[in-house]
Amino acid sequence: MERKFGAGFFIFSPFLLPLLLLLLPISECRRSPAMFIFGDSLIDNGNNNFIPTMARANYFPYGIDYGFPTGRFCNGLTVTDYGAKLLGLPFPIPYLSLQSKSPEILQGVNYASAAAGILDATGRHYGARITFNGQISLFEKTLNTQFASLMPNLAKLLDYVTSSIFIVNIGSNDYINNYLLPGLYTSSIEYAGDAFADLLINNLERQLMSLYRLGARKIVLVGIGPLGCIPSQLFQHNSTDGGCVDSVNKQVSLYNERLEPLLRRLNSTLPGSFFVYENIYGTFMDMILNPARYGFRERNQACCGNGRYGGQLSCLPLQTPCLRRDQFIFWDSFHPTQAANKIVAERCYTPSGTDCHPISAYHLAQL
Ligand SMILES: *[C@@H]1O[C@H](CO)[C@@H](O)[C@H](O)[C@H]1NC(C)=O
Ligand SMILES: *[C@@H]1O[C@H](CO)[C@@H](O)[C@H](O)[C@H]1NC(C)=O
Repeated sequence: MERKFGAGFFIFSPFLLPLLLLLLPISECRRSPAMFIFGDSLIDNGNNNFIPTMARANYFPYGIDYGFPTGRFCNGLTVTDYGAKLLGLPFPIPYLSLQSKSPEILQGVNYASAAAGILDATGRHYGARITFNGQISLFEKTLNTQFASLMPNLAKLLDYVTSSIFIVNIGSNDYINNYLLPGLYTSSIEYAGDAFADLLINNLERQLMSLYRLGARKIVLVGIGPLGCIPSQLFQHNSTDGGCVDSVNKQVSLYNERLEPLLRRLNSTLPGSFFVYENIYGTFMDMILNPARYGFRERNQACCGNGRYGGQLSCLPLQTPCLRRDQFIFWDSFHPTQAANKIVAERCYTPSGTDCHPISAYHLAQL
């Protein structure tokens, strides 16, 4: 890279940076020094604590197995926490907790925000949230301000961004907190299922290209899980036998089916990019259909929730959760336990991870 651009002669300019990033091939890169995280409550680790929203998890018993509540929507660690551990990286800190110019950001940043979606309108009934578009803007701001001043050597900054690993886990809320709530959102009236999936994919394509223009090269895209199996959907659809709601699973499958071809297309048209697809739908279906294989006893009951399946009202402040949390797939009405998150992470972030394609996130980080 230094050879190619004679980067030592460049003085940082916010206009020059995006141009240079476009030219960078992945072959110039090295083992990922940091992780950048974009997404929703599945991986938010505290951003929503700082904004006015009902989508918060900064109270007990959230965090009971972490030691204290952090804002994670889980009893303990999220998939990306385990992922960072498996890659030997520190947990990226929540963007909104940052002091400007804090050197901690060089270890990675988490922009994920509960209730966020691919579409800006998604999740608005919860109040504030950083939409995926907003998260990308914040990353651009980090790059142009904090990173630029912490890493004045442009060649080093470029190398750092292009070799970092980017995780994008978004889309669930575009269904459960948009399309599947016809009383609050009009999307299901305006779009048939496949047209809505196309809409999401078209938006996502633009968003991923923006990340690429900002220097992202190693990108893991997480599909949408089987939302028809989460306790809140079982409750809403009056499931009597605890079986998953097929119609909901079919809706999200329309999206997942379009995601893999999109990634293949971007991978081959954006020079130097390497996109990995994480088939989280497959991982969860396997856990739900074969719970005993993973040591789970409850596959459709929330450890901390209210009403049937714990799916009517999610985990309330100071509510006493179940005791054997490692035996539950679901922590609250919407989110998995850390036990489930650990399995998901192991199936993508270890060298032998089978649920990420065409290579594991572990191998992506080593490229
Ligand atoms: C579930 O049951 C409630 C109460 O009987 C009913 O109002 C609602 O429409 C049912 N939902 C579905 C999806 O069948
Ligand atoms: C994506 O592109 C990289 C080169 O950047 C290549 O090595 C890899 O095989 C491609 N992946 C797919 C699925 O085509």
